[in-house]
Amino acid sequence: MLSCITSFLWCALLYFAIIPAIILIATRIIVKKLRGQVDPTNEVDVSGKTVIVTGASDGIGKATVEEFATRGARVILACRNVQKAEKVVDDIRSRTRNGELIIMHLNLSSLSSVRSFCADFIQKYPSSLSILVNNAGLINPVGVRNLTEDGFEETFGVNHLAHFLLTDLLLPELKKTGAQNPSEPSRVVIVSSGVHNWGALQFHDLMYEKTPLDDWKFTPKLYCNSKLANNLFNLELAKRLRSEKNANVTCYALCPGIVTTNIGKESAKLRANPEPYLVKHVLFPVVKFAMGKNAKESAQTTMFCALSKHLSHHSGEMYRNCEFWDYSKRTKLSEEDAATLWEMSEKLVGRK
Ligand SMILES: *[C@@H]1O[C@H](CO)[C@@H](O)[C@H](O)[C@H]1NC(C)=O
Ligand SMILES: *[C@@H]1O[C@H](CO)[C@@H](O)[C@H](O)[C@H]1NC(C)=O
Ligand SMILES: *[C@@H]1O[C@H](CO)[C@@H](O)[C@H](O)[C@H]1NC(C)=O
Repeated sequence: MLSCITSFLWCALLYFAIIPAIILIATRIIVKKLRGQVDPTNEVDVSGKTVIVTGASDGIGKATVEEFATRGARVILACRNVQKAEKVVDDIRSRTRNGELIIMHLNLSSLSSVRSFCADFIQKYPSSLSILVNNAGLINPVGVRNLTEDGFEETFGVNHLAHFLLTDLLLPELKKTGAQNPSEPSRVVIVSSGVHNWGALQFHDLMYEKTPLDDWKFTPKLYCNSKLANNLFNLELAKRLRSEKNANVTCYALCPGIVTTNIGKESAKLRANPEPYLVKHVLFPVVKFAMGKNAKESAQTTMFCALSKHLSHHSGEMYRNCEFWDYSKRTKLSEEDAATLWEMSEKLVGRK
């Protein structure tokens, strides 16, 4: 009787703990291998260079600021929440004791804030911008359609349109700095996501005013669409820069991977329909354990795109895990859509 129970316990332990643990650890090791290494050319000296990072007070943005600070750059933390950014600066200073860290208020929910940020920056630090990192990203709960100050659907407005205007207004600065040293063009780095593959922009209704929000259960459609817009922007920006001979600016988009930071946590709390039990308690934890990256790991592809010397001739491409991301895996990116989106964005932000 007793042996029967102990063998039952052993079996239970084997099936429900030991085997899953071995599978998880093996997966983790394999995935780590597949993820690729940090590019050694990242270790370039950027002292004296000026970098802007949006959404710098949290997650990948914060880690990105720290990476630049460690390498001696002057970093502008473009943040909505200045108090939070002050804590971030204290924290990073205590570790790096290096880098000029400057907080400037930028609220991407408001185009007038974008304009005053740019005017303020150009006045204070003229002809100095080398790298612009469009990092800030908003994710609203499934089914939520909020508006920005200018009446744009919030996710599209913040993630795409505000960054479109920001980049457009700062481009002359990037060009000036690039021209000072043509062998090192200035860069625009766009933190996008692999979920752009699930997006579908409807050009007749970009703000989802008429189209029902047939949201997918796990990743809000509006977020996927905004990330698709980020990638199309990257494509068209590169094309336009190439057409200007010697523009001295290049641009890159990237997927940071599955990041275990704050984005999404709040949205999970607000989710209208909770995900099925198995998804929440089995699938998500397994995916997170096997493939999740912390903020520092996630920032590596941003640093790769910002600094790697191998990328100069690859403007407009997309990267993941510090590696080129194959075209065949990015089926949603059409040059036609990129041109259409650009023209519509120009009108929406009042640049045409
Ligand atoms: C966005 O929507 C949420 C939920 O519907 C609401 O609580 C919140 O106040 C809205 N935010 C803005 C800025 O409109
Ligand atoms: C950002 O702008 C929006 C829209 O004007 C406003 O509702 C929000 O309070 C602003 N937030 C901050 C922190 O400035
Ligand atoms: C790029 O830099 C070169 C060399 O400094 C300069 O001649 C050229 O005008 C620059 N291009 C633009 C578009 O500013």
